[in-house]
Amino acid sequence: MGVTQRLKGQSAVVTGASSGIGAGVARALAREGAQIIVNYAGHPEGAEKVVHEIETAGGKALAIRADVSQEDQVIAMFAKTIEAFGTVDILVNNAGLQKDAPFQNMTLAQWNAVLGVNLTGQFLCAREAVKEFLRRGIVPERSRTAGKIICMSSVHEVIPWAGHANYAASKGGVMLLMKTMAQELAPLKIRVNSIAPGAIKTPINTAAWDTPEAEANLLKLIPYKRVGVVEDIGAAAVWLASDESDYVQGTTLFVDGGMTLYPGFDMGG
Ligand code: BGC
Repeated sequence: MGVTQRLKGQSAVVTGASSGIGAGVARALAREGAQIIVNYAGHPEGAEKVVHEIETAGGKALAIRADVSQEDQVIAMFAKTIEAFGTVDILVNNAGLQKDAPFQNMTLAQWNAVLGVNLTGQFLCAREAVKEFLRRGIVPERSRTAGKIICMSSVHEVIPWAGHANYAASKGGVMLLMKTMAQELAPLKIRVNSIAPGAIKTPINTAAWDTPEAEANLLKLIPYKRVGVVEDIGAAAVWLASDESDYVQGTTLFVDGGMTLYPGFDMGG
């Protein structure tokens, strides 16, 4: 348990939390006193490990299986969450995947799988969370808002990405989904923001950093000359979930070591 407890007594659903950024965010929110639903689609061992880590540190967590692209599974996950924890205060829309292919070879199945999880999944989870936020309303002892949604986007909400048309399209979609929800839900005292990670060391991009040559190549794209770690994203998520960011609405927080600063222009132009 952390000492600051900025999220004390709050319940958070973190999708795709059995590994990578989701697992890091789940641990970070738990350290601040939130009880966590560790959602996973395919790896119960990973999810149970995260639950165990949180419990060992004195926190509370529960693993729930749901494919976020499936409406019935998302509805069931929120029902179980409310049954277990009473309510939901925070949603971290994190679940995401890549199915890369040269554009002319990209199959409809690859397109649909990525859009289904990365974009439709964020819509479905946010909709269920918002229903619960509105049902419960503001509980001043816990937070100034009725609820917080954090969308896990990517630097590829603004950087085009050859060979990844489905992924870039999904993250571009997340950007305007997030902003539209933020505009619509602000008067209802629901805060919606995104985090746009750059290159973070996780299973999704192992090939980009797991050899010295690959890492050196990747660092050319990162002015800060460090590949990110999940703790970088966990810290941003805690801040966006807490009342410290109470006046932050509809924004994308880039946590990317400067990847979006056009590093190719550091000389000349
Ligand atoms: C992708 C990673 C990639 C990073 C920077 C992320 O959204 O999932 O594979 O390394 O963007 O390009």
